[in-house]
Order: sequence, then C-alpha cells, then structure tokens
Amino acid sequence: MERRPEILVTRSLPEEPVEELARHADIDIWDNNEPIPRDELLERARDKDGLLVLLSDRIDREVIDLSPDLKVIGNYAVGFDNIDISYATEKGIPVINTPGVLTDATADLAFALILASARRIAEGDRLVRSGRFTSWGPKLLLGKDVDGSTLGVVGAGKIGRAVLERGRGFRMKLLYNSRKRKKDIEDELGAEYTDLETLLARSDYVSLNCPLTGETHHLIGPDELSIMKDDAILINTARGPVVDEKALYEALIRGEIGGAGMDVFENEPEVYPPLMELENVTMVPHIGSATHTARRKMGFLVVNGMLDILKGRKPGNIVNPEVLDRGKGDA
Ligand code: NAP
Ligand code: GLV
Ligand code: GLV
Repeated sequence: MERRPEILVTRSLPEEPVEELARHADIDIWDNNEPIPRDELLERARDKDGLLVLLSDRIDREVIDLSPDLKVIGNYAVGFDNIDISYATEKGIPVINTPGVLTDATADLAFALILASARRIAEGDRLVRSGRFTSWGPKLLLGKDVDGSTLGVVGAGKIGRAVLERGRGFRMKLLYNSRKRKKDIEDELGAEYTDLETLLARSDYVSLNCPLTGETHHLIGPDELSIMKDDAILINTARGPVVDEKALYEALIRGEIGGAGMDVFENEPEVYPPLMELENVTMVPHIGSATHTARRKMGFLVVNGMLDILKGRKPGNIVNPEVLDRGKGDA
C-alpha cells in the first residue's frame, strides 16, 4: 500500500501494541483515560482507514458512514455488542475482536465474585475499615459454602467453560446452559446440560457468560429470578443488560435470591441507585479482563488483526469473516 493508513485509536492503550500499529499506520489517538466524547468521536472518526475502539464507544451507522474508505474496525474487547455488526458487514467492513487471551482473567474474576459473595468479603472489608471489628465472633459474617455446592453457567463458550473448570476444582456440581450442547464439556468436566429454568432452580451460584444479543437482553428478569433458590447468588461478568437490574434489586429485597456479584451494569458506568444500598451485592467496575498480561495480549491481538486486514491477510479473530469471503475486505 502506498499511502499509510490512518487509524483512530479512541483511548490510551498498552503502549507496545500501539507502537506496533504506529510502525504501519498514522495514528490519531484520543490519549485519555476517559471515554472519547461522542462529538469528538464523530469529528475524529471522519475519513479514516481504521478505527480501534473500546466497548464504551458506540460504533453505529453514523460513525461507520463518516469514512467512505473504512477498511477495518478493531474492538479492544471480545464482546462486540457496541458495534453495529450487521451494518459493518453490509458495508463489507471486517470487525476484529480479542477472543481467548482474556478468558482465564475473566473466569478468575467471575470466580473471585463467587467467593467474595459467598464469604461476604466486601462487607468484611467495610466492617474492618469502619473500626467495627471488635472480636472474632461465632456468628460474625456467616456465609455460604462454595465447596460441594452447585454452579450453573449460562453461555458455555470460552469463558463459561473456564468458569466450570474452576468450579470443578471446588468440587462443585456443574450445570450449564447454552444454545448448543457441548459434549466435550460434559465428558471432560462432568457438567450436565439443562434448560435455563432447571439451571436457575438448581444452582447455588449462577454465572452469566453469554454475549449480549437480542436474545439475551434481560435474559434474567423477574420470572427467572423468582425461580432461583432464595439463597442463590447471581454473578454477572457478561454484559449489564443481560440482567434486568430493577428486577434484580426487587428480588434481592424480597429475599428471592441471596446476593449478586456484578462486574457489569445495565447502564454502565451508572448503577441502579438502590442497588448501592444493599450489603449483599458485590460490585466491581468492569475489570474482568483487567490483568497486565491479558490487556497487553488484547492489544497485540487487535492490532495484529487490524494490520492483517490492511495487508490483505485473513486474521483468526474476525467477527464477520463473510466480508472477506465476499472479497471486499482487502485493502
Ligand atoms: P464465546 O466463546 O463466544 O462464548 C459465548 C457463549 O455464549 C457461546 O458459547 C454461545 O453459545 C453462548 N450463548 C449465546 N447466546 C446464548 C443464549 N441465548 N443463551 C445461552 N448461551 C448463549 O465468548 P467468550 O469469550 O466466552 O465471552 C463471552 C462474553 O463475556 C462476551 O461476549 C462479553 O460480553 C463478556 N466478557 C466480559 C468481560 C468482562 O470484563 N466482564 C471480559 C470478556 C468477555 P453456543 O456456543 O451454544 O452457541
Ligand atoms: C470485556 O468486557 C470484553 O468483552 O472483552
Ligand atoms: C479460627 O480462626 C479458628 O482457628 O478456628
């Protein structure tokens, strides 16, 4: 390619992958730790060859149409519900994401939320800091067992499977629900496939690991919460809108479920305010993939995928490979 491609990067990212990108392209970077404001995005995304964006950026028709020559969109995340994939596909634009390299980090975080919720870690931390820890107590902050309990995973993809693997280490009974049955998960981990209702009724811990799609929006609402055990804990490291947050609050105050561990929120970064008042909700700020290693690997994976597209090669991490099969994605 004669002209160096021009790429917008919408946030400060790990330096080495961005340097790699800069060796092959001219970069316009929103070098900031806060999301790029929408008006700034609309200004800067104009006439680019590539966009390297975050899950907090909404990449819709309006943004995609700003660049008649847009060749690739890279998402610094595995989930891609922030991008209008069908429109990108219609326009022949490949979308790159970061599968695999954050699987263990995110599964660890899901398990951290299981343990934290079960053993009331955040509550205990608040108690110690407030100076109210006066004595070891036979009844102080009693929680739930994890060992030997039942774990239900909704969405048995890469992360869901890794959560089940961790559950096996805690001798948990494993249930899963997914669109497709997975023989390998059943054979290798001894997990049992059930429909969603059965999984919700039998699990002590329910871990959501599906993507956000039209089908999974509010997958967990009032009816689903009412099926769960009254001491069950709901863990969401998937996407906020998979859970109806208002219904979750109501189920928690009515004692229909025992607690929740949340990494993601329906109107992120806002939290449904009444949830903030509940001791039995453990909340962390969307840090599923937040390890040094995972974030660095995500950077290289997305950058290399974008460079592959710009150089006419086919990367493994492409969300809509059909655009290449149609022969439109080549630079
Ligand atoms: P993945 O390998 O694609 O797994 C997703 C699984 O969800 C697929 O196996 C799919 O099922 C299943 N699924 C889709 N629709 C479903 C439905 N209606 N009901 C039940 N299962 C359904 O993706 P992944 O890498 O594991 O990531 C999963 C999601 O986690 C991402 O989309 C992202 O939103 C979220 N995530 C969050 C963080 C974080 O920081 N909290 C980090 C990484 C990812 P089949 O295989 O049966 O078709
Ligand atoms: C993070 O949430 C991701 O989808 O990678
Ligand atoms: C608790 O600290 C115990 O020793 O049982």
